[in-house]
Amino acid sequence: MANLVYFNGLLRHEHEVNLSILDRSYLYGEGLFETMRATQGFIPFLQEHLSRLFKGLDLLQMHLDISGAKVEFALYQTLHHNRLKNAALRMTLSRENVDVGDWEPGENTNLIVVARPLPRIPPRLYAQGCSAHLVEDYRIAPDRLCQVKTTNYLRQLLAWRKAKEKGADEALLTNTSGRLVEGATTNLFLFDGEKYLTPSLEEGILPGVTRQILIDLMVKTRLPHEERGITLDDLFRAKEAFLTNSIKEIVPLTKVDNQIIGGGEVGPKTQHLMQLFKEDIQYRFERFESRRWGVENVV
Ligand SMILES: Cc1ncc(COP(=O)(O)O)c(C=O)c1O
Repeated sequence: MANLVYFNGLLRHEHEVNLSILDRSYLYGEGLFETMRATQGFIPFLQEHLSRLFKGLDLLQMHLDISGAKVEFALYQTLHHNRLKNAALRMTLSRENVDVGDWEPGENTNLIVVARPLPRIPPRLYAQGCSAHLVEDYRIAPDRLCQVKTTNYLRQLLAWRKAKEKGADEALLTNTSGRLVEGATTNLFLFDGEKYLTPSLEEGILPGVTRQILIDLMVKTRLPHEERGITLDDLFRAKEAFLTNSIKEIVPLTKVDNQIIGGGEVGPKTQHLMQLFKEDIQYRFERFESRRWGVENVV
């Protein structure tokens, strides 16, 4: 079956979508995107993704003519028409130039949604943990641009490629102060024996949706945690570490280059959060289902 793509209000076959050579995400990396996971036909953190997207729209001074509800409809429509339940959805927003070399964009913002079956994630990543390679060549200078998900992903892409060359699963990036920031496509958490630690927004991280859900769960269940600058020393002394993103969710991190983190195994503090996260998705799913069937109105 051909893949159907949502493009500005219509579902089309993938090869029928013609993005202009004047598209500014192609010319300048001026565009925004969100990658989200659908589980059993449900996108559990849709509102959180939309809220990050709208912050990005503000910063890039882009306008979207349709409401959040219509974007939601576009996402579910793409999912359903591709007959997918467990999927990775990518939504991209971009504008076009009127002519090559223009600085002023044209009026319209393109909205594209692509749905793919959830990529196969090797079970060993969850059972034994993943490995990372520390990449210090592409240091992040923290600024407002770090906080939105633009289509300029060169830093992360080059770092990830370096990590792959070293046989690692993920790259770990540092900022201009030499502190740890995040992975190429993941946020970083440690457990130092007493509390969970994660780099604060000021360090130059992307405010990950999964990261924020976990912080909210820690607050709700009163788990000690702190957002602050994280040094390499913190990492190598940590009892446990894990990485988070919307597709892989929570992946234990047990090795960085040649150094084993903690006991080199998936620790109980990571497992505890994996369980809380799973329950949170289940809770959201049940609420979604009951709204869908109108059960909330039945006493
Ligand atoms: C640089 C970077 N940091 C963190 C994340 C994790 O963010 P989220 O949990 O919203 O997927 C991503 C996701 O792609 C990312 O690209």
